[in-house]
Amino acid sequence: MNQLELIQALPKAELHVHIEGTFEPELMFEIAQRNHIDIPYKSVEEVKQAYNFHNLQSFLDIYYAGANVLIHEQDFYDLAWAYFEKCAEDHVVHTEMFFDPQTHTDRGIAFATVIQGLKRACDDAQSKLGISSHLIMCFLRHLSEEAAFQTLEQALPFKEQIIAVGLDSSEVGHPPSKFERVFAKAREEGFLVVAHAGEEGPAEYVWEALDLLRVNRIDHGVRSEEDPMLMQRLIAEKMPLTVCPLSNLKLCVVDDMAQHNIRRLLQKGVHVTVNSDDPSYFGGYMNDNFIAITKALNLSNDELKQLAKNSFEASFIPAAEKQKWAKEIDTLA
Ligand code: HPA
Ligand code: ZN
Repeated sequence: MNQLELIQALPKAELHVHIEGTFEPELMFEIAQRNHIDIPYKSVEEVKQAYNFHNLQSFLDIYYAGANVLIHEQDFYDLAWAYFEKCAEDHVVHTEMFFDPQTHTDRGIAFATVIQGLKRACDDAQSKLGISSHLIMCFLRHLSEEAAFQTLEQALPFKEQIIAVGLDSSEVGHPPSKFERVFAKAREEGFLVVAHAGEEGPAEYVWEALDLLRVNRIDHGVRSEEDPMLMQRLIAEKMPLTVCPLSNLKLCVVDDMAQHNIRRLLQKGVHVTVNSDDPSYFGGYMNDNFIAITKALNLSNDELKQLAKNSFEASFIPAAEKQKWAKEIDTLA
């Protein structure tokens, strides 16, 4: 099998995808129309032209604006279902999706509306496509600690449907330490925890995510390489990094895919995984990310298999399931 065939054939788990970031312009127009909401674009082409980012914030401004058209439970269902169909095409068999409740509750949408729409899509993905999934609720780090506490409170009645809490949005100036207490409470309530750190922010934020938030995974974390002591810690603890290559390129975290450090991190023994982050905005889903790094960094078939295995190993599925997928990956040439 050549590399491209192997990428398609590999079963994969996606661990870093924002469901609001899978919102394709076509669906955005359709939902805007049926909800009678104006969007500041005349055509799909015009939307795509706006996706010209120079950093994280320039993306976030457009990303939050797009989410404004989501009002009803069915809208959240349709959003998630469209993503699951992409998973099926890419042979993503398990996904752990972020959602940003505050983006919706701050517009007067009920927490229940959001989660019920997403959950119904997750149930249908299992029964109709054979794709398993978990939901991860993210706090928006540009908002206050108090707002995060309120969001955690709203989530408690839906605890069984949310596997973990996470931390996303504008990183620089909003370090993990700002959310130490709310993460402690979330852990007490039984949630697993993850956090974006070391995307635009420094290695210091990754230390804080580990020591103060006690995360089970680091989202992005590519700037960890700047700190040799941190690298040792990540390797020793087998701490997963959910790396998003096309996102890093689009948001200018790297200038050129040939300079991306994912292969180097893998070779040094860091538990890296490949993910799409906000695929509708960054130019591709799971397999597009695999293809982009394979072309730019000339990954071998063994490295591709290792990345796919890492994705299951770093996921929140039971150990027996992880072994099952590892075995299946080993049978591929
Ligand atoms: N970083 C931080 N916040 C986000 C991202 C990201 O890549 N995508 C959606 N929210
Ligand atoms: Zn992200």
